[in-house]
Amino acid sequence: MDYFNYQGNTLFAEQCAVSTLAQQYQTPLYIYSRATIERHWHAFDQAAGELPHLVCYAVKANSNLAVLNVMARLGSGFDIVSQGELARVIAAGGDPSKVVFSGVGKTSEEIAYALDKGIYCFNVESEAELERINEVAGNKAKIAPVSFRVNPDVDAGTHPYISTGLKENKFGISIEEAPKLYQYATTLSNIAIKGVDCHIGSQLTEVQPFLDALDRVLVLVDTLAEQEIHLSHIDVGGGLGVCYDDEQPPHPNDYAKAIAEKIAGRDITLIYEPGRAIMANAGILVTEVEFLKTNQEKHFAIVDAAMNDLLRPSLYQAWQNIIPVEKRTEGTDKSYDIVGPICETGDFLGKDRALNIEQGDLLAVRSSGAYGFTMSSNYNSRPRVAEVMVDGEQSSLIRERETIEQLWQGEHLLP
Ligand code: LLP
Repeated sequence: MDYFNYQGNTLFAEQCAVSTLAQQYQTPLYIYSRATIERHWHAFDQAAGELPHLVCYAVKANSNLAVLNVMARLGSGFDIVSQGELARVIAAGGDPSKVVFSGVGKTSEEIAYALDKGIYCFNVESEAELERINEVAGNKAKIAPVSFRVNPDVDAGTHPYISTGLKENKFGISIEEAPKLYQYATTLSNIAIKGVDCHIGSQLTEVQPFLDALDRVLVLVDTLAEQEIHLSHIDVGGGLGVCYDDEQPPHPNDYAKAIAEKIAGRDITLIYEPGRAIMANAGILVTEVEFLKTNQEKHFAIVDAAMNDLLRPSLYQAWQNIIPVEKRTEGTDKSYDIVGPICETGDFLGKDRALNIEQGDLLAVRSSGAYGFTMSSNYNSRPRVAEVMVDGEQSSLIRERETIEQLWQGEHLLP
């Protein structure tokens, strides 16, 4: 559930009329709802019940400082994949000792930075990475806390680009080979073994693949215990899906409960890394219709947002609902492709959408809070858009719209 609802014919973000925000901050514009973020975060936190647990929000979903700060205030942990994300967490008031560091390609510089900041643990994805972490920690006379990301070879049943837990994927280490690597880690003097983690994919709409993966991870935990390697946490990754269209993903409560039940009775901390489930439906992208155009049989609404602002439809053929900010009471629906001004056929936000619209109308692309702004770019030399967060009747500009001059900041002419 989120806080983007119509009051009469007018779309509101919490208690703010979206049309007023669009007027104040211009379009295209990302709008996030603080109450929605908090509600979703609490759903994960509460569902684990009495079990020791940590919600490590996946920063890649939306890394705006204000978003991170809202979660830091709730006591959240964070899942990061780069030095930049860790620096953001710290700048937003997040606690580095609640940070897990994922990703297959951590550089020595990133590892050193994370060690200096005292993160909770590195999610290690290969033997070579383990050796690099050991070496960097050794140079600093520090002990690096690690967990191994295992690949349980479970089909998440999601889009191939966001499925990560199969043997053919680049992520993690095969679960069969994991005990060997844990044993090796015990011989390294600057490594402390903490846990195990897995992340099998994103936008999962069933609980079963998570439970299948967890079953395999628990077998590993028991095998390791027999070898006197005792883990203090299991990180189940992120991946819980959201409703974009008519999907019926499990509620975070049911998902987290099912996982907690499997772990109950073990003296182990549970870590989640949700990104999308917290942020997707906590944000919308507001865009204005620049022109309506008809080619042969096809109607187009050319809007001021484009694939550089919201890449998901172009990259994954992702479907996100597109709704009017003010519902028209007269006129009829027509079927439109909602397209941006970028010079690519793949530049669309939605296809074949039944809408009753005119030039100048505002549209809201729903479920844009996750992997929206963070995947945006300056393609076609388009300044990145502004971001606003609403909190009841208040709205705050949390990222200024880029200026034209910023487009070539850091670029140099030849001497
Ligand atoms: N943990 C790890 C190690 C991950 O790789 C990811 C996402 C997450 C947690 C968070 O997953 P979530 O709860 O958000 O599903 N750009 C794509 C999604 C890519 C997800 C990458 N990894 C999209 O827009 O659908």
